[in-house]
Amino acid sequence: MIFLPLIMETCAGNSCLRAELPLMPIDLLVPLYSLPPREEGAASVRDSGVVIRRANPFELTRVREFICRHFAQSWADEVGSTFARQPLPCFLALEEGRIVGFAAYDATRKAFFGPTGVDAAVRGRGIGRALLVEALWGLHDLGYAYGIIGAAGPVAFYEKAVGARPIEGSWPGIFADLLQKNVPEESRPTENS
Ligand SMILES: CC(C)(COP(=O)(O)OP(=O)(O)OC[C@H]1O[C@@H](n2cnc3c(N)ncnc32)[C@H](O)[C@@H]1OP(=O)(O)O)[C@@H](O)C(=O)NCCC(=O)NCCS
Repeated sequence: MIFLPLIMETCAGNSCLRAELPLMPIDLLVPLYSLPPREEGAASVRDSGVVIRRANPFELTRVREFICRHFAQSWADEVGSTFARQPLPCFLALEEGRIVGFAAYDATRKAFFGPTGVDAAVRGRGIGRALLVEALWGLHDLGYAYGIIGAAGPVAFYEKAVGARPIEGSWPGIFADLLQKNVPEESRPTENS
């Protein structure tokens, strides 16, 4: 999951989230054989009125809209790739029937966790961690021994929540040779300029 300006083609042109990126992103390794108990997933936030469940295929457009509005189009594309599979490897967090967070897995690459995000208005209530735990159990149940958090943003969050550890030398890893943002037609040099 990567938020570099290089591929930061947000729908809303929102650049404030870049502040979450460390200077040099790094992949993290998560041992899936020692995850927090399953009860620390969806069940941990149910009493606060938050439902965490798998996305349904017919919700793709709504999920894409949420991710584009709050995060990045490239993340919506990554998550969209999961919608043709069953069980669908993307969890949603809902409050009063509206999406407030999401977490995908086995999307960017096999065994990868992410992208993930929680609406800024409801952060700090345990939703991000619950989504993380739920999704990592999803990876565990696919048979993986380790999960990978690609180009992790909030490293301290992952270290504390699930004991993630940096993978030395993992940058740029799979994120080498990325597409540059498209230059609008009208600002391209012409033969006369
Ligand atoms: C990272 C994110 C998903 C966390 O969601 P959240 O719902 O606020 O997280 P939680 O409330 O479950 O936090 C769980 C714990 O992690 C801590 N934490 C949360 N965000 C953190 C961060 N960015 N850095 C360090 N610790 C963090 C919380 O303080 C909390 O600690 P506590 O258990 O002592 O109370 C959310 O901040 C977000 O959407 N960030 C922008 C998108 C992003 O960076 N996604 C990840 C890309 S790799």
